[in-house]
Amino acid sequence: MNILKEKIHNLIIENGPISIASFMEISLSDKKYGYYRKKMPLGSKGDFVTSPDISQIFGEVIGIWILDIWLKLKEPSNFQIVDLGGGRGTLLKDISRVLKNKISNFVYIDINEELIKLQKKSLEIASHFESIDDIPKMPTIFIGNEFLDTFPMHQFIKRNNYWREICVNSDGKKLFFSQESTELSKKLTSYNLLNLKQGSIIEINFKIREIINKISNFIKDNSGAAIFFDYGYIDGYGDSFQGIRDNKPINPLNDPGFVDLTSHVNFKDIKLQAKKNNINFYGPKTQSLFLEEMGALQRLKILEKNASDHQKSDLRIGLNRLMSSSEMGNIFKVVALAPKNFPSLEGFTCGTTTNKE
Ligand SMILES: C[S@@+](CC[C@H](N)C(=O)[O-])C[C@H]1O[C@@H](n2cnc3c(N)ncnc32)[C@H](O)[C@@H]1O
Repeated sequence: MNILKEKIHNLIIENGPISIASFMEISLSDKKYGYYRKKMPLGSKGDFVTSPDISQIFGEVIGIWILDIWLKLKEPSNFQIVDLGGGRGTLLKDISRVLKNKISNFVYIDINEELIKLQKKSLEIASHFESIDDIPKMPTIFIGNEFLDTFPMHQFIKRNNYWREICVNSDGKKLFFSQESTELSKKLTSYNLLNLKQGSIIEINFKIREIINKISNFIKDNSGAAIFFDYGYIDGYGDSFQGIRDNKPINPLNDPGFVDLTSHVNFKDIKLQAKKNNINFYGPKTQSLFLEEMGALQRLKILEKNASDHQKSDLRIGLNRLMSSSEMGNIFKVVALAPKNFPSLEGFTCGTTTNKE
């Protein structure tokens, strides 16, 4: 049995079942054995490949989106771009190419040592922090691609007139799910039973709420905006907890520390947090529509002009993967946040929603 799994078994045997959120937190972020602490999760040798490493057009289009904001703000010299969970560093490098000679403050936030090494190679001028709390206070654009889905969520199942929390349990040999009455499930029962049928599952991600609140306060105090790309839902509910290894879904309880754990992002909940923080919420928009509206297809044509046949084919395949509805185009959504007094954000002209709704 792997060391982290043994640690989790012991914890459960001593203290009782743990929430899915605790299981995710330990499996992903344990200082020594957590998946995001020790392993190279991304790229062809990792468990999955992300948009910046599929097509350079992804980062270039975001660079244009940022440039538009910077121009609307009258070209401030004190201005930084923060990549939340910078991965292999590709996204910020592609963005910096577009912003050359205009913006030179780039920041990576990450906790994975292997990825931080790659980020240092990818964009030497960037600085590195583990948390939003530590970054310099100035007008800031935050970007999070597949960042929010890494945070731990709680799952609840509805019974006739109460909620139970779905927890991770142990018999000493196997980890399995069990339904428990917890402080949170009791609170949820007294707060809201929702109009859902028996057996319905809902997920609540307090960590995402915390991050959205933190970023909202930061951009209200210092000026700026945030944009997030992630797979998720606007309406609906259900079980979205999954493990990913070698680009394939796997039982999330199988091998803690060696499997990426994710859940779908609830964009409606982010909208609610934005409203509570009195800032504007843009989207959700499908990744495909956002890229199209921001000129990804025109950028492809320009790149093709100087490309070999082989390069042309790679460029087309890459962008198609990001935009096609059968691949990442529809399941990935884009949302953005900005304070009320901020210039309007490009790419959200159709389907934009604000707090007024
Ligand atoms: C799914 S990857 C996405 C990487 C990158 N944004 C991309 O598009 O390729 C998630 C990233 O978030 C980082 N990460 C995970 N948990 C984090 C945390 N608590 N704080 C900061 N970064 C974290 C990971 O190390 C990784 O770089």
